[in-house]
Amino acid sequence: MADDYIIKDISLAGYGRKELDIAETEMPGLMALREEYGQAKPLKGARIVGSLHMTIQTACLIETLVALGADVRWASCNIFSTQDHAAAAIAEAGVPVFAIKGQSLEEHWDYLDRSFQFPEGPNLILDDGGDATLYILLGARAEAGEDIIPVPQSEEEGVIKAQIAKRMEASPGWFTKMRDQIKGVSEETTTGVHRLYELQRNGHLPFPAINVNDSVTKSKFDNKYGCKESLVDGIRRATDVMMAGKVAVVCGYGDVGKGSAASLAGAGARVKVTEADPICALQAAMDGFEVVLLEDVVDSADIFITTTGNKDVIRIEHMREMKDMAIVGNIGHFDNEIQVANLKNHKWTNIKDQVDMIEMPSGNRLILLSEGRLLNLGNATGHPSFVMSASFTNQTLAQIELWTRGDAYDNQVYILPKHLDEKVARLHLGRIGVKLTQLSTEQAAYIGVTPEGPFKPEHYRY
Ligand code: NAI
Repeated sequence: MADDYIIKDISLAGYGRKELDIAETEMPGLMALREEYGQAKPLKGARIVGSLHMTIQTACLIETLVALGADVRWASCNIFSTQDHAAAAIAEAGVPVFAIKGQSLEEHWDYLDRSFQFPEGPNLILDDGGDATLYILLGARAEAGEDIIPVPQSEEEGVIKAQIAKRMEASPGWFTKMRDQIKGVSEETTTGVHRLYELQRNGHLPFPAINVNDSVTKSKFDNKYGCKESLVDGIRRATDVMMAGKVAVVCGYGDVGKGSAASLAGAGARVKVTEADPICALQAAMDGFEVVLLEDVVDSADIFITTTGNKDVIRIEHMREMKDMAIVGNIGHFDNEIQVANLKNHKWTNIKDQVDMIEMPSGNRLILLSEGRLLNLGNATGHPSFVMSASFTNQTLAQIELWTRGDAYDNQVYILPKHLDEKVARLHLGRIGVKLTQLSTEQAAYIGVTPEGPFKPEHYRY
């Protein structure tokens, strides 16, 4: 179908294409897969719905899936994360894409629905945060007359239900049909993976799932080194504030928290951390960060960043105590880490796209980034290509696995085998001039591995 897309402006396609050409030079894993599988086309026949931030890096992923034989339709998984020139380049290349930076929540769910509209329906989902999977499963439950599974980000619940009702009216039985023909899902992020394991625990997972996040070459790189570069990038583009000397609080010291704390420390901020997990708290302390209670620093810090994947981390009572012009932002997947809904009845002054100043009852003002949605993608352009290449190489391998060997899997959540994880890392070494030491047969035997790897047992934590 001609013009089967909804984007900001197709005339941005040339700019998008030039940036894509540059990104390809920084995404060696994806380019190697095009080389390795371009002839065999292992994804031939696959019809993939993608729900993942529509950025330049994602455009490179999409074109890799297409090069491997897949039909693809795409929506973004966040209302602020689309790069309109990337969407334009993909639309011009003939891939149906539905994503505009700054789209409304209603549009978000409508665009997701459109990404499912292959003439014969899709057979695979590539998800980030679980919205595409959730949409189909909630709809199928609604069609069966069952209660729908609680939606984690509750203020969206009404919008999701309205979208499901619209689709049920237009195409009775559609959700159940979609659910039954999906062969599997590969999931990008920690929050989406939590949802999948919960579905598995409750017996609600209707197809196999591959947890891409917990490939070592995903979460220990994208979540960490990606945020290390993109967090401060987002704060700077939003505020131009001097970071050196400021006191910054990072809530959560998991993979994203570690990268975020390193990002702020690298910019010269004095970083404090809050944690609930004693192991991560100990790591933060031994990495040199003071581990504090949010309540104890809320009136003295300058910058607050949530990285927990949890809800209600920065609450209204915290924001009431903050200094004038404190900066508040989130880099976790959903916006419910900060109680933004409780700020709605305050005075908001929009400074520019995705930057708002909010007046508190005390007269103090807060700078809120991306309305509490992930600020590295809302205020900047997300992680750099190189680290996303590692993530998306895992995604592509997961899609190949689900498409070519999906029948070998039960309806459970799986992680890619270690030899593929090591393959992803290996594909990224040349670009940065890494030389790998070759183990002798004797050395390999001595540490209980083979010279070709895998080099670590499953329980090794990196
Ligand atoms: P993680 O599970 O490794 O880390 C989260 C940490 O937060 C845990 O250590 C946990 O103990 C801590 N935590 C939970 N509740 C807390 C509270 N109330 N106060 C203080 N600490 C608390 O998860 P990961 O991989 O770091 O991901 C975090 C979030 O970031 C997820 O939502 C994930 O989907 C998202 N993400 C965002 C990216 C981005 O580019 N913006 C990239 C990758 C992940």
